[in-house]
Amino acid sequence: MLRIDVITLFPEALQPALSSSVLGRGRESGLFDIKMLHLRDFATDKHRTVDDTRFGGGGGMVLKPEPLAAALDSLDIDYENIDRDKTRIILTAASGRVWEHDTAVKMSLMERLVVICGHYKGVDERILQLYPIDEISIGDFVLTGGEPAAWVIVDAVVRLIPGVMGNFESAVDDSFTEDQLLGSPDYTRPAEFRGLEVPEELLSGNHVEIRKYRRRMAIAKTYRNRPEILEDVDLSKEEIEFLKKIEKSK
Ligand SMILES: C[S@@+](CC[C@H](N)C(=O)[O-])C[C@H]1O[C@@H](n2cnc3c(N)ncnc32)[C@H](O)[C@@H]1O
Repeated sequence: MLRIDVITLFPEALQPALSSSVLGRGRESGLFDIKMLHLRDFATDKHRTVDDTRFGGGGGMVLKPEPLAAALDSLDIDYENIDRDKTRIILTAASGRVWEHDTAVKMSLMERLVVICGHYKGVDERILQLYPIDEISIGDFVLTGGEPAAWVIVDAVVRLIPGVMGNFESAVDDSFTEDQLLGSPDYTRPAEFRGLEVPEELLSGNHVEIRKYRRRMAIAKTYRNRPEILEDVDLSKEEIEFLKKIEKSK
């Protein structure tokens, strides 16, 4: 079972995520476990200080190394002999490697994840020298704190644990899952809405045709929204012809 520890200054910020339907149920069913470590509990002075000004000047505070190190040391992890196939320590950071579906898949196979939420200007850099940490960004923008990023990371990981999603089959053709393609467009009842009909292939009941159709539509969506992904996808002759047709019709 995957155990996740989140080190944060704002444990309450993650509560809604933990009690949400899918994550809440998964946790209650014992499919994964998640614990919050309040960084302030690891401060040693009477003011429970966790941050200080930056050496070198400039505005903003930096999370001090001592409370962070104490929080990490409180976990039963042998950092010097860490098995990175089983345990990962993640620091949420705008300057980290960008989080992708493949990373989520890799992390969902771990036994142990620790997610550190930064705040203010971030954490004292020496923490990265002392612990085997993966810096992870959830995109090329800057948040005020790591909590939303931790929420994103935890959600993306635990939904891949078998049993967490009520219908695991539905995750199989989500975006980035098959050949990294984006997901195909979906429809539900009514079959006609404001003059627009659901594509007949989806109503045919022919599963082979439906699969082919969905893959073609996934290719079309990927071409429109993320064409660079298609460079690494193996397309059949038929699909290459289909792509040429879309390109021509632009
Ligand atoms: C204001 S940011 C610090 C930005 C940092 N000084 C920099 O230049 O990259 C505060 C915290 O929010 C979190 N954060 C901000 N943007 C993020 C992103 N794109 N992905 C993950 N975490 C992010 C990190 O934990 C970071 O320590």
